[in-house]
Amino acid sequence: MSGTTTTTGAPRALHSNDPCWCGSGRKYKRCHKMTEGKVLPGRVGPMRTVPDHIAKPPYADGTRVPRQPEAAVKSPEIIERMRTAGRLAGEILAEAGAAVAPGVTTDEIDRVVHEATIARGGYPSPLNYGRPPYPKSVCTSVNEVVCHGIPDDRPLADGDIVNVDVTIYIGGVHGDTNATFLCGDVDPLSRKLVEVTRECLDRAIATVRPGAAFNLIGKAIEDHAHANGFGVVRDFVGHGIGEQFHTDLHIPHYYDPRYTLEMEEGMTFTIEPMITAGGWHIGKIWDDGWTAVTADGSRTAQFEHTILVTASGAEVLTALR
Ligand code: MF3
Ligand code: CO
Ligand code: CO
Repeated sequence: MSGTTTTTGAPRALHSNDPCWCGSGRKYKRCHKMTEGKVLPGRVGPMRTVPDHIAKPPYADGTRVPRQPEAAVKSPEIIERMRTAGRLAGEILAEAGAAVAPGVTTDEIDRVVHEATIARGGYPSPLNYGRPPYPKSVCTSVNEVVCHGIPDDRPLADGDIVNVDVTIYIGGVHGDTNATFLCGDVDPLSRKLVEVTRECLDRAIATVRPGAAFNLIGKAIEDHAHANGFGVVRDFVGHGIGEQFHTDLHIPHYYDPRYTLEMEEGMTFTIEPMITAGGWHIGKIWDDGWTAVTADGSRTAQFEHTILVTASGAEVLTALR
C-alpha cells in the first residue's frame, strides 16, 4: 500500500468474511476493513523549542506540577490578563484555520500555531503538558478523532474535517479555544455535524449568567444535538481555566440534573462540546496516550471558547475582535 496513514481501495463487493484483498489470508473484517477510511498514527516530529525570553508555565521544563487550588472567581486584574490571552488565542486559531487545506500535514498546522504563539510573546500551552508529556504545540483532531490528536506527517485529505485546539499561556494565564474546519469538499452529513456543533456551543453560551445552574449548559447542548440525531461525548468536559490550564471546575456537555452548582460573576471556564455523528462512546485511547477516537469510528466535531461570567451574561474571551 502507498501512504502510511489511510488505506482505501477495497473492492465494494467484498464481504466481511471474504479473504482480504491484500493477500494476507485473514478475513477482510479482521484485516483492512478495520482501518479503511480511518485516521492512523503517523510520524510525530521532534518537540519544537521556545525562545528563552518567553515566560513559561511551570510544567514546561518537565517539572511535575500537581494541580493547585485556584479560586473559581477571578480578580479584575486576572480577568484583564485573561482577556488578552483569550483574544490572542482567537487570533492564532484563525491563522491555523486558514492553513487547513488538502495536502497540508497536521505537523504544518503545528508549526503555524507554534510560530504564531511565539510571535505574540506567548507559550503554546499544550507543549510538555500532562502525562505522558504532550509532545506538540496544538491538538489536531481529524474525522473520528474526538480530541487531543497529535500533529504528525499525515497530509489532510480532501473531505476531512479537522479540529484545531489552540491554547496560549501569556501574562501568567491561559486562553483556550478550538474550532472544526472543513478541508476541501466535505460531505453533507459532516458539514451538518460541524454546523450543529457550533450551534451547540452558541446555545450553551447563551445560558451563562450569574445564578444559572451549570447543568443548563449540558441541557442546551444535549437537546440540540439529539434533535439533530447526534451524540454528546461524556468522557471529556469543559473546565475552569486561569493561572492553570485546567482547574477542578468541571463543565459537562450532557445533562446532569444533579449538577446544580451555580455560576458566579467573575468565573472563567471553557465550554467545548464534542458531538458525534454516531455513538458517543470513546474507543481505546491510542498508544500515544492522548488520541481519543469514537468507538464506532463515526465522525465527530468540536468547538471551544473560554468564557467569563459577567453581571448580565457571558463575555467570550476567545472571540475574534
Ligand atoms: N486544549 C485542550 C482542552 O480544551 C487540552 C489539551 S491538553 C494537551 O482542554 F496536552 F493535549 F494539549
Ligand atoms: Co479546554
Ligand atoms: Co482546548
